[in-house]
Amino acid sequence: MILDGKVVATARKEELKKALQDFPRQLHLAVVLVGNHPASRSYVASKERACHEVGIDSQVIQLDEAITTQELKEVILSLNTDPKVDGILVQLPLPEHIQEQEILETIDPFKDVDCFHPYNVGRLFLGQPIVQPCTPKGVMEMLTYYGIEVAGKRAVVVGRSNIVGKPMAALLLQANATVSLCHSRTKDVAEEVRRADIVVAAVGKPKMITKEMIKSGAVVIDVGINRIEDSTTEKGYRIVGDVDFEGVREVASAITPVPGGVGLMTVAELLWNTYTLAKYRL
Ligand code: GUN
Repeated sequence: MILDGKVVATARKEELKKALQDFPRQLHLAVVLVGNHPASRSYVASKERACHEVGIDSQVIQLDEAITTQELKEVILSLNTDPKVDGILVQLPLPEHIQEQEILETIDPFKDVDCFHPYNVGRLFLGQPIVQPCTPKGVMEMLTYYGIEVAGKRAVVVGRSNIVGKPMAALLLQANATVSLCHSRTKDVAEEVRRADIVVAAVGKPKMITKEMIKSGAVVIDVGINRIEDSTTEKGYRIVGDVDFEGVREVASAITPVPGGVGLMTVAELLWNTYTLAKYRL
């Protein structure tokens, strides 16, 4: 079975549109984009489009690559105090010279739609989140939509990033899976993955998860979005995941495609988080 991000994200957005009809005021999301990272620009554009689709106002604050940490903090502080702003998203990665953690800690935790502020990360790991990080939340929503049971399953997450791997492990644990988190120092990733009923790949290495690593009937979630050169395409590149889709689909019981999988869910859950925080602040 292919887990179709388009279908689930559309359903999630429709559900949100209905909820927004009863909300007393217009929602507003501020997206901060520093510099000209091509992938970031394309992610931000898709976030804007999605806001428009469900009727959330959005504003992209495009800032020069050379901005200082202090100047960027001031931009965020003004969004924190702006009463019309419900959500603040600082697109990552930030340029090298910027203190990323300091920036994330400047965002008002109650406008933190990414769930990256330590307050929200703490709540998440205590099992008492207000919002959950968009990508891991999107994965959980996909599993729920397709009726895939998580409780009691052996889940293996590959990649320990703050954005995906760590919070993904926390959400799977919260859903009562037995969770392993693999990373660059894991002795034998293939051996760990082979034991998994549910595999989440979030490493950023094209096609690193192969058919030989997957137990028959496992559920495989591919969070990777990798640009690889391809001169036969108009743009000169194409997008592939961390999973060798064609091989793995032969042994997996369910698999997400890239593109058309988790990426679309991330955006849908961002919209939900904007609503959830606005409701919470109200
Ligand atoms: N860069 C890659 N993924 C994300 C995300 O989910 N949020 C933000 N802010 N930046 C990202």
